[in-house]
Amino acid sequence: MTDHHIPQTMGQQFGRRSWAEPWKIKMVEPIHMISREQREQAAADAGYNTFLLRSADVYIDLLTDSGTSAMSDRQWAGMMLGDEAYAGSVNFYHLEEAIQTYYGYRYIVPTHQGRGAEHLISQAVIKKGQFVPGNMYFTTTRLHQELAGGTFVDVIIDEAHDPTSLHPFKGNVDLDKVQALIDREGADNIAYISLAGTVNMAGGQPVSMANVRALRELCDRHGIRVYLDATRMVENCFFIQEREEGYADKPIAAILKEFCSYTDGAWMSAKKDNLVNIGGWLAVNHEDVFDLARNMVVVYEGLHTYGGMAGRDMEALALGIVESVQDEHVQARVGQVRYLGELLTDWGVPIVQPVGGHAIFLDAKRFYPHIPQNQFPSQTLAAELYLDSGVRSMERGVVSAGRDPKTGDHRYPALELTRLTIPRRVYTQAHMDVVAESVKAIYDNREQTHGLKMVYEPQYLRFFQARFERI
Ligand code: F0G
Repeated sequence: MTDHHIPQTMGQQFGRRSWAEPWKIKMVEPIHMISREQREQAAADAGYNTFLLRSADVYIDLLTDSGTSAMSDRQWAGMMLGDEAYAGSVNFYHLEEAIQTYYGYRYIVPTHQGRGAEHLISQAVIKKGQFVPGNMYFTTTRLHQELAGGTFVDVIIDEAHDPTSLHPFKGNVDLDKVQALIDREGADNIAYISLAGTVNMAGGQPVSMANVRALRELCDRHGIRVYLDATRMVENCFFIQEREEGYADKPIAAILKEFCSYTDGAWMSAKKDNLVNIGGWLAVNHEDVFDLARNMVVVYEGLHTYGGMAGRDMEALALGIVESVQDEHVQARVGQVRYLGELLTDWGVPIVQPVGGHAIFLDAKRFYPHIPQNQFPSQTLAAELYLDSGVRSMERGVVSAGRDPKTGDHRYPALELTRLTIPRRVYTQAHMDVVAESVKAIYDNREQTHGLKMVYEPQYLRFFQARFERI
């Protein structure tokens, strides 16, 4: 017998070395798949909108990574240390210190979640009629900019709008587009640059350090400030570490601090990177902006030392920030997303490439080429996936894009995507297998699938509450 016939473990056989999550499970939450018949009923009751499903009717919930992460035992212990004083809670000072330490900004205003901070920064720094250039819109961000009298202008690189482009930093700002806007409208008519890392609507795509550095230089020449949507900035730093020269040996925490140093402040949905179920913050370096925001927070959120969060929430958040910047945590988090992406890619399912930080984005235009965009291919895909396996995903296409405030027509984005968003530290590899197999099953059945028509449309952020019927 040759060596080849000696039984070996798989590891020895392939020289294979797997990685695993840097945690083990201490408490479980049972989940259960209801029958196909019940799913048909639940989908119809929800108007084929996954936001209107009851969570008890969902098996694997990939609607969002927002507020859906599992907290650690240390964070839960922190919940018991809540100082629920109305003013000057101990936990606020822990939070302030964590943000100053890891993000590096000077002044902190807590808010109940990300859009609370978006409201404050938009109202504080946008003058009516000003432009707000940004690396692709995000739904709530752009709405708050518009409500403050601003006009959002997309200045992301063209590659971001192409789901097949393999550009390593598809979140980058196109500096020529910024320069052209400055030349056309004048620097005084630009409120600030709205920079997001990673870019959610582009597929969780990162911005490079070189790009933010160059953006900073350009803005310095014109006296324009740069504010960062730091919601998934830690994941952005993972891609810099992986792809950008000179950063392979730098810890995520150091990369984060450097990136933020090129910006004047940030707003944060702490429900994502920061590993909490609720919370947000605004952090800025300029005292004038801080004064305005701190004054406004007492009108809209709560006193400036809690901003809508309980003391215990701020403690969990302060601890979550520290956990969120640990290299092995971020590697496992993005690694799990990538695992799902690789399965789907191997099976020929069209997804946004390269795979981003928080989600797999199915490319509904290529998935259902026979369904026109005004019959909502991404919405259809989300409904079909739920019907097949009880997996909940989210539309990120024409429904999310809403209507043009001037013409009233649908905005038809180049990207018509369905997002499978992975909560942090919640699901296992086996869950990812189940999801991938279900996507494959509906892909195989794609030619038999018809689109949807919208039968109810709310005025703001319509994707949350719109209702549809099958065609
Ligand atoms: N910015 C980005 C990039 C976001 O993804 C979100 C929320 C917000 C701001 C607003 O924060 O929800 O705490 O008020 N995104 C969620 C999602 C809803 O599912 O992508 P929030």
